[in-house]
Amino acid sequence: MIETVEALVRPDIAGMEPYTPIVPYEVLSAQLGIPPERIVKLDANENPYGPAPRVRAAIDSANLHIYPDPESRRLRDALAAFTGVPAAHIMAGAGADELIDLTLRALIAPGDVVINCPPTFGMYSFDGALNGARVVAVQRRADFALDLDGIEAAARAHSAKLLVLCAPNNPDGSLLPAGALDRLLRLPLVVMLDEAYVEFSGAASHIARVPETPNLVVLRTFSKWAALAGLRVGVRRVPPLADGAPVEDQAAVQCQRGRDSRRAGVAG
Ligand SMILES: Cc1ncc(COP(=O)(O)O)c(C=O)c1O
Repeated sequence: MIETVEALVRPDIAGMEPYTPIVPYEVLSAQLGIPPERIVKLDANENPYGPAPRVRAAIDSANLHIYPDPESRRLRDALAAFTGVPAAHIMAGAGADELIDLTLRALIAPGDVVINCPPTFGMYSFDGALNGARVVAVQRRADFALDLDGIEAAARAHSAKLLVLCAPNNPDGSLLPAGALDRLLRLPLVVMLDEAYVEFSGAASHIARVPETPNLVVLRTFSKWAALAGLRVGVRRVPPLADGAPVEDQAAVQCQRGRDSRRAGVAG
């Protein structure tokens, strides 16, 4: 019999810096001695207004005892109508977080290089390390602008496989300058563009480009604009495989977390 499981944990995972998770209202409330309703919590970019009444009604009427559709057909069809992007390009997940992980899992073999542009959302480097990637940081400039020359140089020097971009960027909200995405899409790598906050920016989403752009993956989420962070509904648009199936549907079928929430996503 083994004495401890620690010795069996993958050494690269055992050596990782722990991700600092958010502190829930009730825990903060107990720590601070302040009632939860008197706390204004800004650390997780949650939407303080809550979801639309139709979404609440859909949640109330959900069949929680039934396994949800693993392929999220109704949600993907609704999103196809909403975005104009065919459902074959759309994949639903348990928040953008799961889709970041699935994208890395599908693309990254141990040691492959992912380019990250900090300061930015911490999940990219964390999930990169979790998936065995070598995460190369190309720091943003003092005004948070992307260092496009630096990204191109790093991509070539390391034969990088994936570039992660966040626009509007968390934490500063900066957008991609005109022409930047076109320039970076010319690199021989996949660009994963996280648009978690695009609905607040006044800028157009780049999702419409996905069907004709083989190396572009766009992430969107219901957590922010639709105020459904608690349901964990994210959406990814990917170039489909030759047979029309989204690239990682196989992996997604194994991953059931959060699927009940898709019903609320359709109502939203
Ligand atoms: C840039 C960015 N992407 C993704 C997420 C996670 O989104 P989700 O709730 O859909 O997992 C966050 C959450 O704060 C974020 O800031």
